[in-house]
Amino acid sequence: MKRLMTASSLIIAVDGPAASGKGTLSRRLAQYYGLAYLDTGVLYRGVGWLMLTQNLDPRDEEQAAMTAQAFTLAAVADADIRTPDVGRAASLVAAQPQVRAALLAYQRDFAANPPGGVRGAVLDGRDIGTVICPDALVKFFITASPEERARRRYKDHRAKDASITLDTTLEDIKRRDARDGGRETAPMRAAEDAELIDTTTLDADAVFARACRYIDKSLKVEDA
Ligand code: DC
Repeated sequence: MKRLMTASSLIIAVDGPAASGKGTLSRRLAQYYGLAYLDTGVLYRGVGWLMLTQNLDPRDEEQAAMTAQAFTLAAVADADIRTPDVGRAASLVAAQPQVRAALLAYQRDFAANPPGGVRGAVLDGRDIGTVICPDALVKFFITASPEERARRRYKDHRAKDASITLDTTLEDIKRRDARDGGRETAPMRAAEDAELIDTTTLDADAVFARACRYIDKSLKVEDA
């Protein structure tokens, strides 16, 4: 904490697939190090949600681009974007170069000028370390087995929707991994200089402790 006050801007990039634990880790890191936090999945989910509520097809590139260009976070502030349908729509719009281009400036600006006058930001997503903030001082790639991620997602979603099963959740996770990792523009992948953490057998506290050790080590190297 003390060391951070002497460092200049600190950007932490956290990438990884759905339900890997990257959101939980990112929120905790932002709080602990006194940084702003942006869950960039909200932007893609927001665009997907807006399209679904207007009965637009998320695959329609022209409509998706227009929706992304006009997008504001305020427009989805009260929306329920944490559903499997919105996740699927988000993954579809996220594969489109024009959508990504429209959402890029907001993310870079958030990192460069974090709200609240704090010293930096944690951004989580799929392409933070590779495309949005390639110069981030600290990069993580958080993974877990598809089966474990499906179990976590299923636990979160089954109370909201009784038709969801573990099998359909696993299929959904695998389909999204393939789409997010296989697309041409900014595919999900670990940056070469990212620290890999597999959370399959780790709880949130253990992941947080490992990440903090890595950050503190990186800050020491930077100061030296
Ligand atoms: O992290 P999430 O499940 O909320 O993300 C929803 C979708 O958005 C995901 O399928 C991929 C896409 N996404 C992306 O392509 N790039 C990001 N930086 C964040 C999310």
